[in-house]
Amino acid sequence: MTSKTEKLLSLLNGQPVIPVLKIANVADAVPLARALSRGGLRAIEITLRTADALEAIRRVAAEVEDAVFGAGTILDAKQFDEAAAAGSKFIVSPGITRELLDAAKDSPVPLLPGAITPGEIMAAREAGLRFLKFFPAEQSGGIASLKAFASPLADVKFCPTGGITARNAADYLGLPNVICVGGSWVAPDDLIKAGRWDEIEALAREASKLKT
Ligand code: 3PG
Repeated sequence: MTSKTEKLLSLLNGQPVIPVLKIANVADAVPLARALSRGGLRAIEITLRTADALEAIRRVAAEVEDAVFGAGTILDAKQFDEAAAAGSKFIVSPGITRELLDAAKDSPVPLLPGAITPGEIMAAREAGLRFLKFFPAEQSGGIASLKAFASPLADVKFCPTGGITARNAADYLGLPNVICVGGSWVAPDDLIKAGRWDEIEALAREASKLKT
């Protein structure tokens, strides 16, 4: 285990599910983060897929004391730096590039990069990372692929993301090389749009009870 991996794992603090959030309306950021936190999911990933994502991160940073908020869908060093400057506690990327690894190397903010092939996993490992996002999980062999990695790549652990739902999350979490899963199912677009925070809290509460 490297110090960067330890830092990331300590931020996630054993949480079984990391909500992956797409916040279209910045006013939703704080009530959404609060609902998830009340439901037991303090660590959240706010994706940079909407115009106001950085502002959403800033607002959560300023107003939701107990949230551990990361920035997701980071594609290059410029976005890495912007997300870190907005206060992100961790950075998530769908894949792994040399540019991103270099940006992460000199930053105190840990990176959770996506990797799906043995070569990508080995490249991340060489950079000192032992905890990776397995993305897109269901489309990339899912549980069977992760089982195949467990022996040859035994010191690398994963957060499978992509196609994970309440239906299959427990199966992923039962794997020895899976620490947590990521997913959008705990904060569906329609519930966010309608401001149904109690229902999102209930989904989070169910997800938070899953065993890692
Ligand atoms: C994503 O980046 O879109 C995440 O992997 C979420 O995927 P999901 O919507 O299938 O949970």
